[in-house]
Amino acid sequence: MKLTDSEKRMRNGAEGRVIAEAMDYIIQFGEAFNAPRLVDISYCHYPAEMGIYYGDIEDLVRYAKRGAKVCVPTTTSTLCADLEKPSITGIPAKLARLQAEVEPAHRSMGILETYTCTPQLLGFVPPFGSYIASVESSAIIYFNSVLGARTNRGGLFTRFSAVTGKYPLMGYLLPENRYGTHLFKVMIPPERLRTYDAWCALGFIIGKIVGSEVPVVQLPMTKSQTPILPRSDFMIGLGAALATSGSVTLFHIPSVTPEARTVKEAFKNGNVPKNAYEIREKDLDDVYQQVNNIEPGADIDFVTLGCPHYNLAQIEYVARKLEGRRVRKDIRFWICTNRMTRKQAEYSGYVRTIESAGAKVVADTCPVESHMRQSTCREYGLAVPNVRNMVTDSVKMVRYVKDLIGCNTALADTDRCIQSALKGRYDSLQRRKGH
Ligand code: F3S
Repeated sequence: MKLTDSEKRMRNGAEGRVIAEAMDYIIQFGEAFNAPRLVDISYCHYPAEMGIYYGDIEDLVRYAKRGAKVCVPTTTSTLCADLEKPSITGIPAKLARLQAEVEPAHRSMGILETYTCTPQLLGFVPPFGSYIASVESSAIIYFNSVLGARTNRGGLFTRFSAVTGKYPLMGYLLPENRYGTHLFKVMIPPERLRTYDAWCALGFIIGKIVGSEVPVVQLPMTKSQTPILPRSDFMIGLGAALATSGSVTLFHIPSVTPEARTVKEAFKNGNVPKNAYEIREKDLDDVYQQVNNIEPGADIDFVTLGCPHYNLAQIEYVARKLEGRRVRKDIRFWICTNRMTRKQAEYSGYVRTIESAGAKVVADTCPVESHMRQSTCREYGLAVPNVRNMVTDSVKMVRYVKDLIGCNTALADTDRCIQSALKGRYDSLQRRKGH
């Protein structure tokens, strides 16, 4: 790999041992994939070390004590605890204390304590074409597809990019890897795509077919023959689902996402797609059939919204629906978001409204990342499974809690989720088969 003089100096220890080691890892990583050189990144979304993983936090604390410092703006992903209000999730106090050790370590490294899977909601919107390094599949796909920034799926190596500001030029950083491979024509009536869960289900279908390649999603036209324009939260739900049933890192929606103004442009100006598919309403119904294993009307014990973490407008919507109402006794109802959005929701009175109804606005974490995982429950002597029947508007949540928490699940629109929490049973829509 060709290195600049300053990169060689970094590798040789001119900026200390932590940087030299990090450069070594990054160079070896790049060489394994034949990267010709390194590039400068402008931003990093960093893996927040979690108390539910053995040795994770101890490793972070050691790294921070060695003097590791980030050199680009760096945000952090989710934790297993709500650090400001740990008791609201029922996390064992010992685990919450362990998780809290990340805060001083991150602060000393210069990492911003965002603890979220949607850092873009906090203003971390890297510009079009910029190189970044990121963890969290739902954030990565948003950065790549909706913003046109360039990142691969990162893991622990993201740490080394954060302290050096470098990443190998490879994968989705290269323009030739960013063209569409498969075409998906969405033939679903626009009125069926008015809810968050529907976009999640759409992403789930496409991700399952396309695997790790690049789908081009052609949306249906409105009555006035203009393509429908998804809301930003719908794009977040769609991306998260694509990265859940498949390992999609980049998608294009002609006339919506920035790298594909037309279908032709999405396929490198004339290349033919490897395959083309039509997605119909029946395919959407099938997703609910596949992922729902709670009978309509059955008792439930958990409702969760906010996967990926909800924005302020979504929280406001839930608050208005809950105003003056009461969540059924014994139902845990979490609305997950990041700590800054929760603060905004507190200023606006939404948190008070939601709490008065008996629901909780949870920050820093979510059910998937929480202490409710079966392995953690066993370790801390909690009931397994910790949840029996969960209703949610996110297909990503459904997919992961089934295995990790071991509960039954139902995917429903946000209104049905809220109704389910109020009634204490799964409030399904009868008019749609399998929904
Ligand atoms: Fe975020 Fe948890 Fe979903 S980390 S994407 S809310 S599984």
